[in-house]
Amino acid sequence: MSVRRLRSFRVLLVLLVFANTSRALVDEVLDVLKLGKEVGEEVLNSWDVFGKPFNATGGVDLPVVRRREREILARLAVVSRSIEKLEISVQKVGDVALFLAKKGNKPTRLELRLHEMSDLLNRVAWSNRQMREYVGQQENLEQSTLQDFAEWCVSHDPGALPGLLERVHALVVPPHKNLLGRGLLQLIMDDLKEEDSDVCDLQMSPHQLIYDMYNTIALTEIKGYAMMQFSWMLLRIYGRGNFTQEASLTRQRYSERTGQTATAARAALAMSKRDLYRCDPPVHTSATYAEVTRLLQGYVENEVDMNSDGTCKENCAFYTLTENHGCYKEQFCDKQDKCRGRIIDCQYLDSDMWVCPASRHSQRRYEWIEYENGRTLGRVGSCKLGITKVDSWWRWTLTHCSYCLCLCEDEASVAERFFSLREVMADINENKVVTGMRLVKLGKVFHIQIYQGKLVERGFVESSEEVLAQAFDPEQAGVLEGVDYHTLTYERRAIDLDELDSPSGHVLTGARFRMIGAHLHFEIRATPFNYTTGKLHPEKSQWISNDNTEGSHTPRTRLELYKPDLPTRSHTALRIDSQHDQYIEFTHSDFDADAAQSTVPFIDVQPVVPSKALNTKGATLLSGAGLYHRGARGSGGFIGVKVITYDYSKHVKAEPPPSEFVDESETTEFVPIVN
Ligand SMILES: *[C@@H]1O[C@H](CO)[C@@H](O)[C@H](O)[C@H]1NC(C)=O
Ligand SMILES: *[C@@H]1O[C@H](CO)[C@@H](O)[C@H](O)[C@H]1NC(C)=O
Ligand SMILES: *[C@@H]1O[C@H](CO)[C@@H](O)[C@H](O)[C@H]1NC(C)=O
Repeated sequence: MSVRRLRSFRVLLVLLVFANTSRALVDEVLDVLKLGKEVGEEVLNSWDVFGKPFNATGGVDLPVVRRREREILARLAVVSRSIEKLEISVQKVGDVALFLAKKGNKPTRLELRLHEMSDLLNRVAWSNRQMREYVGQQENLEQSTLQDFAEWCVSHDPGALPGLLERVHALVVPPHKNLLGRGLLQLIMDDLKEEDSDVCDLQMSPHQLIYDMYNTIALTEIKGYAMMQFSWMLLRIYGRGNFTQEASLTRQRYSERTGQTATAARAALAMSKRDLYRCDPPVHTSATYAEVTRLLQGYVENEVDMNSDGTCKENCAFYTLTENHGCYKEQFCDKQDKCRGRIIDCQYLDSDMWVCPASRHSQRRYEWIEYENGRTLGRVGSCKLGITKVDSWWRWTLTHCSYCLCLCEDEASVAERFFSLREVMADINENKVVTGMRLVKLGKVFHIQIYQGKLVERGFVESSEEVLAQAFDPEQAGVLEGVDYHTLTYERRAIDLDELDSPSGHVLTGARFRMIGAHLHFEIRATPFNYTTGKLHPEKSQWISNDNTEGSHTPRTRLELYKPDLPTRSHTALRIDSQHDQYIEFTHSDFDADAAQSTVPFIDVQPVVPSKALNTKGATLLSGAGLYHRGARGSGGFIGVKVITYDYSKHVKAEPPPSEFVDESETTEFVPIVN
């Protein structure tokens, strides 16, 4: 051994003993990729120290072995503490696997594989815990105990650690592609394609789920790798052999496996859906939906009150656009709230009817209407406020003063049909990004509301907080139509349904409504960022939208509602039935089903905040958002927001562990200790 080498070895030893070895492993291990790299480096450093010969010319000195053993275990303890930290946050993935596995009645291939995977991961985790325990009480342990364990960690026995890791790998990357078919990640992806209920229940996008599953597997590989490498080191100082070659094979196999797993994960991630939305809640309440009110509402009015002369010369269909002109002889008009806005599209159904008025607090006018000819509008039942008989009449001029069924676009002051046009932005100057979104109704106005969190290194978001939307009153002085808010009207009641994603390298930092022609239009704000540092570049932010209109070359298409009843009355689950580049018009509920008393679609106000498996405290990075319609034939459905989670596929890569370590034992007087 050269003097220079010896000196550097001594320096290393001193560093080892006094510097507490934690240099390589940062305290805040954020992600698996980084951890893998750091564990690889730590293993290498350790080999640098223990792989090299040590001065054993003093003879077979047990205290020396004990000291070296302690040193190895101290290093292992550092590595294992880092793994443990990350492991705590990865725990939830187990629940996810369990959930997926549970939902099927008959055991599917996916289910069987998930069970096997979960079993294998548990066994590795168990042995890892065992090791931690040993490391913790090494003082009291016999060398043989540690040696036994180390031997298990590198044994050829199929039930030993290397065999377990190979089996985990075979689940992800089946060795015989054509025989065993698809890997686990692909199976999960296929499964999630079929059912959207999973996405709803888990509140994770398939992309997120696969990314987290990949992280769990990669973490297990790292654990296994560290355990195996430190076992070789222990066995070496116990004098069981040289093991340079074995350690190098272990490293080689580890790089192969992690490389293949990363490739499989990238392929699955690139193909998995990244959108996330809410589905029907178990019970519809004011916390889950809100309504636009009195946009176009079924309204019973007599012809005599719809013209300024008080005549009955025309028929109902004549009145396509009019207003109330009074209340002739205090008939039914005196018993109901008159329409203070425009009266639209009247029709004649029958001369006489029974009307059940709705309560004063309700935004409805009527609960139901039953005509003498038997036709019923709405759900006829008991009537709390008492049924009112409403009969048309003949005049002496032999003109018929008919009760018409019209639509009332009520005065804006009694309606709730405003949408805020104010921008909603995360605090980008504090490096915050949007982590969730919802629609809310504050007073009479609908707003976009966001959740935000601070973006840090490598795509991690520290936490998530709700940013309350600022309520305002459209009738307040200084608040402007077209600037601060939009009022839905008969002519301007379309809303664009788009799904918007940021360009690559950008994240979601805001959203807004804007008017394009007569359409209320949804837009997102995208900001570029540096993945390594997490730093946003606010000055390069941009608004992103799909400005297509219905009059263009490839026009935006309209989503039609068929006889829409209230979505809260639906007996079947409502599924997303809109596509990107469509629009829908707010309209009245169906006459027969609801007497046209409500405005549909309803607005889903459930928060859409992806849950986070990998890091329970953190939030999920998003790159896009959109508006969709969730409905079914015969239902008005809901309009809701969806979010698009960030695409991690390009950041998944396996870095082979460093391998510069060269065994130099042959140049020295190393004497293996033989027990
Ligand atoms: C090994 O240790 C012995 C005694 O501890 C010492 O005399 C000798 O010089 C050492 N050899 C080397 C190469 O450091
Ligand atoms: C350890 O193994 C390597 C590679 O097989 C070999 O070159 C070296 O001589 C061995 N060292 C000892 C001390 O046996
Ligand atoms: C991100 O930041 C790191 C560290 O400052 C820098 O080395 C890297 O070039 C940056 N990447 C891009 C794409 O700007």
